Amino acid sequence: MKITILNGSPRRGGNTEIMANEFARGSQEAGNEVQIINLAGKKIAGCLGCHYCFSHNGECVQKDDMAEILEVLDETDLVVFASPIYWFDITGQLKCTIDRMYARGKIGFNFNKTALLLDSGASGVYNAALAQYKAMCSYLNWQSVGEVCIPAMIEKGSMKTAPKLQEVYNLGKSINPENN
Ligand SMILES: Cc1cc2nc3c(=O)[nH]c(=O)nc-3n(C[C@H](O)[C@H](O)[C@H](O)COP(=O)(O)O)c2cc1C
Repeated sequence: MKITILNGSPRRGGNTEIMANEFARGSQEAGNEVQIINLAGKKIAGCLGCHYCFSHNGECVQKDDMAEILEVLDETDLVVFASPIYWFDITGQLKCTIDRMYARGKIGFNFNKTALLLDSGASGVYNAALAQYKAMCSYLNWQSVGEVCIPAMIEKGSMKTAPKLQEVYNLGKSINPENN
């Protein structure tokens, strides 16, 4: 199946990117087609809440890089949301992207499977991000194939030696390419 990983971390080569790469490695080995989109390199403004998209077949009134991401998502079977914790939540880059996915709120999403990858300095900081993700999955009938949270990521590259990184690889590897 086609998998898109939305990486919300602005730090290139950082812990979240390492996690995203590891998920991609596992799921590619399982036979899936995987694309990682680094959101921080894109121009994606916040949603205006104008509902233009609702009366224009999902087209957004704002002309920025979200259009190409929506096109990719329209061909995607499984979306992976990956983010470091910033102030007890996902990053603004990922939140803006999710808000702009409202453009598919009326006409519907192509994918119905998702996963969540989070990392942070401290432990016990995931409640808000997990609650938001689970509520979205429930509201939109997305089936979550898994969630992995990796704390103690203090330095850039701490992830390289994190024992839980194996869980991320295993989750990727568990994605059956025929099961979309
Ligand atoms: C602006 C900012 C806010 C952060 N807020 C938190 C936080 O609330 N709780 C926490 O445990 N770590 C927090 N961190 C630490 C990061 O989540 C952690 O270092 C993560 O591994 C960084 O991922 P990256 O290497 O992809 O940038 C914060 C870091 C930054 C830069």
